[in-house]
Amino acid sequence: METTEMTRIPVQKTTASRLAETDFSDLRFGDKFADHMLEMRYTDGQWGEPSIRPYAPIQMTPAASILHYGQGVFEGMKAFRREDGRITIFRIDKHFERFNNSCKRLNIPEIPFEVFEQGLIQLVDLDREWIPKNKFKALYIRPFVIASDEYIGLNTSQNYRFFIISGPVGNYYREGINPIKLTTMPDYVRAVEGGVGFAKIPGNYAASLLPTHKAKEMGYTQVLWLDAKHRKYVEEVGSMNMFFVVDGKILTAPLSGTILPGVTRDCVIQLGKEWGIPVEERPVSIDELIEANKNGTLEEAFGSGTAAVISPVGLIHHKGYTITLDQDKMGPIAQRLYDTITSIHHGLEKDNHDWCTIV
Ligand code: COI
Repeated sequence: METTEMTRIPVQKTTASRLAETDFSDLRFGDKFADHMLEMRYTDGQWGEPSIRPYAPIQMTPAASILHYGQGVFEGMKAFRREDGRITIFRIDKHFERFNNSCKRLNIPEIPFEVFEQGLIQLVDLDREWIPKNKFKALYIRPFVIASDEYIGLNTSQNYRFFIISGPVGNYYREGINPIKLTTMPDYVRAVEGGVGFAKIPGNYAASLLPTHKAKEMGYTQVLWLDAKHRKYVEEVGSMNMFFVVDGKILTAPLSGTILPGVTRDCVIQLGKEWGIPVEERPVSIDELIEANKNGTLEEAFGSGTAAVISPVGLIHHKGYTITLDQDKMGPIAQRLYDTITSIHHGLEKDNHDWCTIV
């Protein structure tokens, strides 16, 4: 991806890097953070100048709006180290578009593209030694914005703080890239039409925690969300979008406002179509999947996400019926997607779609 011109963001470098004491041999997801972070504040109706400084706790009033009403938005992105040593950030423009769409829904002022892009590039460049060398690992990047008014009446905040932090990660699921187990939870819903299901906001994730906890207690990895109205159409998994291969076709829920418009979801759809595999974005009912499982046409189920990449699903439970797929490995389409996407990440395959920005 071509980059836009922007003046450099001022940087205060750390004098106490934590890099040397960080164990990269056993990376999980989300518990290690690189040396620097970016901040930009919104006051008096405009965004101020961004700056980069050492990663550290932030000070906030206990009355800050974000803490009470959750007016905040976040993104999840990744940067990779290629074999030739070059660093890339994946699909900046698509993440930016989703970030600002989420901001619009929560009445948060949009972030200028130049700051988003330049901030990512400078931060990743500064912390480039934090990017793991292994093909299956990455630097996970978390841009986020929070409402910072010192006010506990319910109102759109007048002040905001935009941050970017990052950290090295391994696989998102404990299972690694082995198939995970899902269950529906028909007593709970994730999103309703007209609501906020398409936005990447804390509340969507907070509301999923109790049902997910219950699913885990029952031995499943995650909840497979069904639509709120009919409680029968498959939506997503919270941490990833869902795909099913039925009779040679790839099926996935449409972007009707109740699921996250996943960036990896978009890659899967584009690649699937280019490979000549029919891709149908349409409501897919759990009954249709059970039927396909019974008659042997349900070939694969897998999820896609920035954190999850492509994660195979080996089992889906719904109201006493268990769909079992290949429990030991990814299906052929999921595997081809995983290999292609990770190869593009790491520069092992040509980036025909212009998805990567070289840092
Ligand atoms: C991501 O895939 O980037 C997400 O934000 C999902 C989150 C549950 C880690």
